[in-house]
Amino acid sequence: MKTIALYPGSFDPMTFGHLDILERATKLFDHIIVTVAVNKEKSAVFSGDERVQLIHDCIADKEWSQKVEVHQFTGLLVNHAEKVQANTLIRGVRQISDFEYEFRMALTNKRLAPDVDTVFLMPDEEFTFISASLVKEIAYWGGDLTSFVPKNVADALEKKYENR
Ligand code: PNS
Repeated sequence: MKTIALYPGSFDPMTFGHLDILERATKLFDHIIVTVAVNKEKSAVFSGDERVQLIHDCIADKEWSQKVEVHQFTGLLVNHAEKVQANTLIRGVRQISDFEYEFRMALTNKRLAPDVDTVFLMPDEEFTFISASLVKEIAYWGGDLTSFVPKNVADALEKKYENR
């Protein structure tokens, strides 16, 4: 049976940390659906369509890109997982401080959809401190984004903040 996993997140925007998790996931599952979802606690800088396009551009030259699909979804994640027949959610955990929030979310999702499990993956050590929020702050102040995000994302961030 084909294993399908959802990799959900805000991806506002995709970072090298997200890409690292995604690549790891392609080694564990047959098909990954990166799902750009709405986090009600955050206001996004990029529109859903922009985030989807950025992710497509980030993975275009990867040899594993054919295993990945990118969706946009508004609503409860587990509903999307059930619709696309994914029984696994992938979440990246960078540090212990991520864990409490992730643990609560995983248990809530499990209560809502008992057959959907959350798998936590750790990125490479060099990416453990990277977050989309920090990346946006660096971009806001015109800092060097080279080691945080792929070039297409850096270009998009620079454009977003050029008239700040
Ligand atoms: O990258 P993020 O912001 O940590 O991702 C959080 C996200 C978007 C995965 C989460 O907010 C989410 O799943 N939103 C959709 C609504 C939902 O299903 N919430 C989880 C039930 S508690």
